[in-house]
Amino acid sequence: MILPSQLGFLATLAALLNCSPAATLHVPTIYARALDGPEALSESYDYVIIGGGTAGLTVGDRLSEDGKTTVLVIENGELAHSDEINNVRDRVTWNAEPWWLYNITSAPNTELENRESAVIIASVTGGGSALNGMQCVRGTTDDYDRWGSFFGGSSTWSWDGVLPYFIKGLHFQPPPKEAADQMPGIKYDESYWGNTSRLYAGWPSFQWPGIKYQFEVFTKLPGVGVPEDSGAGQTGVYWYPTYMDAEGSINRSYSRTGHWDGLNRANYHLITESKVTQIELDGNKATGVVFRPSQVDGGEGEFTTVKANKEIILCAGTIHSPQLLQLSGIGPRKLLESARIETKIELPGVGQNFHDHTTLHFEIQFRNYSIRPNRRDDFEDPDFITWADNLWAANRTGPWSRALWNTGAWLGLPVVAPEAYESIAAKVDAQNAADYLPTGSDPTVIAGYQARLVSLAEAIRRSNNVFYSHYFSGDEPVNYFTYEHPLSLGTVNINVSAPESEPIVDYRTYSNPVDFDIMLELARFHRRINVESPLLAQFDPVETSPGLNVTAREDWVAYMRRNTEPSSMHPTGTCAMMPLELGGVVDEQLRVYGVEGLRVVDASVMSVIVGANLAGTVFAIAEKGADLIKNGAE
Ligand SMILES: Cc1cc2nc3c(=O)[nH]c(=O)nc-3n(C[C@H](O)[C@H](O)[C@H](O)COP(=O)(O)OP(=O)(O)OC[C@H]3O[C@@H](n4cnc5c(N)ncnc54)[C@H](O)[C@@H]3O)c2cc1C
Ligand SMILES: *[C@@H]1O[C@H](CO)[C@@H](O)[C@H](O)[C@H]1NC(C)=O
Ligand SMILES: *[C@@H]1O[C@H](CO)[C@@H](O)[C@H](O)[C@H]1NC(C)=O
Ligand SMILES: *[C@@H]1O[C@H](CO)[C@@H](O)[C@H](O)[C@H]1NC(C)=O
Ligand SMILES: *[C@@H]1O[C@H](CO)[C@@H](O)[C@H](O)[C@H]1NC(C)=O
Ligand SMILES: *[C@@H]1O[C@H](CO)[C@@H](O)[C@H](O)[C@H]1NC(C)=O
Ligand SMILES: *[C@@H]1O[C@H](CO)[C@@H](O)[C@H](O)[C@H]1NC(C)=O
Ligand SMILES: *[C@@H]1O[C@H](CO)[C@@H](O)[C@H](O)[C@H]1NC(C)=O
Repeated sequence: MILPSQLGFLATLAALLNCSPAATLHVPTIYARALDGPEALSESYDYVIIGGGTAGLTVGDRLSEDGKTTVLVIENGELAHSDEINNVRDRVTWNAEPWWLYNITSAPNTELENRESAVIIASVTGGGSALNGMQCVRGTTDDYDRWGSFFGGSSTWSWDGVLPYFIKGLHFQPPPKEAADQMPGIKYDESYWGNTSRLYAGWPSFQWPGIKYQFEVFTKLPGVGVPEDSGAGQTGVYWYPTYMDAEGSINRSYSRTGHWDGLNRANYHLITESKVTQIELDGNKATGVVFRPSQVDGGEGEFTTVKANKEIILCAGTIHSPQLLQLSGIGPRKLLESARIETKIELPGVGQNFHDHTTLHFEIQFRNYSIRPNRRDDFEDPDFITWADNLWAANRTGPWSRALWNTGAWLGLPVVAPEAYESIAAKVDAQNAADYLPTGSDPTVIAGYQARLVSLAEAIRRSNNVFYSHYFSGDEPVNYFTYEHPLSLGTVNINVSAPESEPIVDYRTYSNPVDFDIMLELARFHRRINVESPLLAQFDPVETSPGLNVTAREDWVAYMRRNTEPSSMHPTGTCAMMPLELGGVVDEQLRVYGVEGLRVVDASVMSVIVGANLAGTVFAIAEKGADLIKNGAE
């Protein structure tokens, strides 16, 4: 145990070293009472939270809000100088400092010509919510009812059981009239939103005028409507907000601003630049957490142990939560044995059931598009930049005030592929789950996959499940679309020859071949609507990739192998909330099976991904998880 006085010394040393640009040594900085400065770390806390990301800080805030319950959050990344994160113009990942992301490359993807891909996840206080595209969407009622369905009829993990936590978790700002005027077809209903959270959903003051054509072409499709609100749990075409405070600064709103900054609570501590390496178990009870400075050269920083009086809450995200369980002896026995880690609690599902939204690159250009005086290339054009800079300086409006996108289509297969969806569903019905999982998968994991396939075959037949999504930019079509419910499952397992190095992330994209069938339908639909629709003909669209000569199935499949991205930066599923006999890792109270005093609360608990970008769902899971913990639910 390192003494608080030593930690104070280290923090001072860090401050001194940080003055020198040549310094590479980082040591932990302890923040207590919201950025008061270095404070002593206690030997124990009521709750120790691993990971100060999207879920971690949300749970930390809720558990400490009585002013008495002591909470420590341990975060691997730094407490970044927030300008680069706040400032709208520099807000998205591509402006992130490299050390705000983990440096992980996936395993070669067999069905993607052995391509490896970057695994993009955040390593900074606030986690994904600090770097994401700020798109605030929710998915459909079916997504949430599906989670509970695996537990039988009466689960509180259902749309009705989660909606109150969306309402608690987000403070909605209706668009000012000038902004609403730029969003043709916008509908919203404040009853789906709350007004108490310090985390905001607001609206930029600028949208490209051409957006209305992309919106309209989708709303004219049979079976496609505009739901009463983007958060109503329906498929369709809609406008959705950005994680920002429209009435105030138009800065990013994220877990740090909503659940840490300004709280000033003596009982809520955060230590950053510190990596948890192990959860300590006493028998089957989780008692403490071991961590050390994360960025010391060579990783030789000193280990520190902190004890939890009540519980440890794992919020390290989909890639690292299963890694920490496995490192601590909780996971598949064969894997742990080959890594020479003692199996303390055998739990075959840890790290299995990994999935993400996949995307297909699809490039369309509008050759006759005079609605907007500038095209994508204009972002390099000095005249365009001057124009945008001036708008921003004068009124904080124009392109720089916008985050990624605020509208799109979110559609089910009966709409996208009315001729094909039934035969695709029938194919899934006939599948034997074991055929599409890694050989040697545990019978409970196989049973869990079979249950998912049954549920997803049903989802294919029901229109209120998103399979296709596409954002509208209003300048040119966004150069990809997203497949929201892939069937294939991957794994995130420790590297048995170096367990503490980054885990092996194996997407196994298209390992279930029905994903080729579905992607093909999505691609044909995408072309039909965006390239061949008479409504868009006036813009003279040209499909530059794949190109209209790609029509035969084998050509499409070849194209997909080269142009599918396995991730939309929405990894999920590796600590699934499922019954134990279905390969689950946590129960409905988010407690790790077989372990006392340990829960997982983050994106990894989704048994099946939702048909939406994940951050809103993670905030809702965190709010609900905090309530479950406080109520000591049995
Ligand atoms: C670039 C990008 C763009 C995205 N765009 C959108 C979007 O527009 N809209 C949307 O809804 N969603 C988006 N997402 C997805 C969404 O942001 C994530 O799904 C969500 O933030 C995940 O939350 P989490 O709490 O599970 O994990 P995270 O927020 O990633 O938090 C995990 C935290 O744990 C820390 N950690 C990990 N291991 C350790 C350890 N051993 N010790 C200590 N700390 C550790 C990490 O550093 C991290 O801060 C995007 C994600 C990314 C990365
Ligand atoms: C908004 O972000 C900018 C840039 O980081 C910062 O200077 C400003 O203080 C922020 N405003 C508020 C209200 O937080
Ligand atoms: C990422 O890892 C690779 C291979 O391990 C290494 O070569 C590269 O320098 C790393 N990049 C960063 C930014 O740390
Ligand atoms: C906040 O929401 C509640 C419940 O919907 C509503 O009664 C109240 O008027 C709202 N307050 C503000 C300031 O909007
Ligand atoms: C800024 O807003 C004011 C008031 O709405 C308006 O008069 C002015 O033209 C705007 N400036 C720019 C550059 O748009
Ligand atoms: C596993 O770790 C070993 C030892 O560091 C390394 O050589 C190997 O490349 C890693 N394997 C993978 C698949 O990353
Ligand atoms: C190009 O667009 C203009 C209006 O923006 C329209 O009048 C014209 O017919 C279009 N040309 C073609 C070839 O579609
Ligand atoms: C389609 O045309 C492009 C460009 O001419 C060519 O590169 C590609 O191989 C063609 N694809 C097929 C399937 O014919």
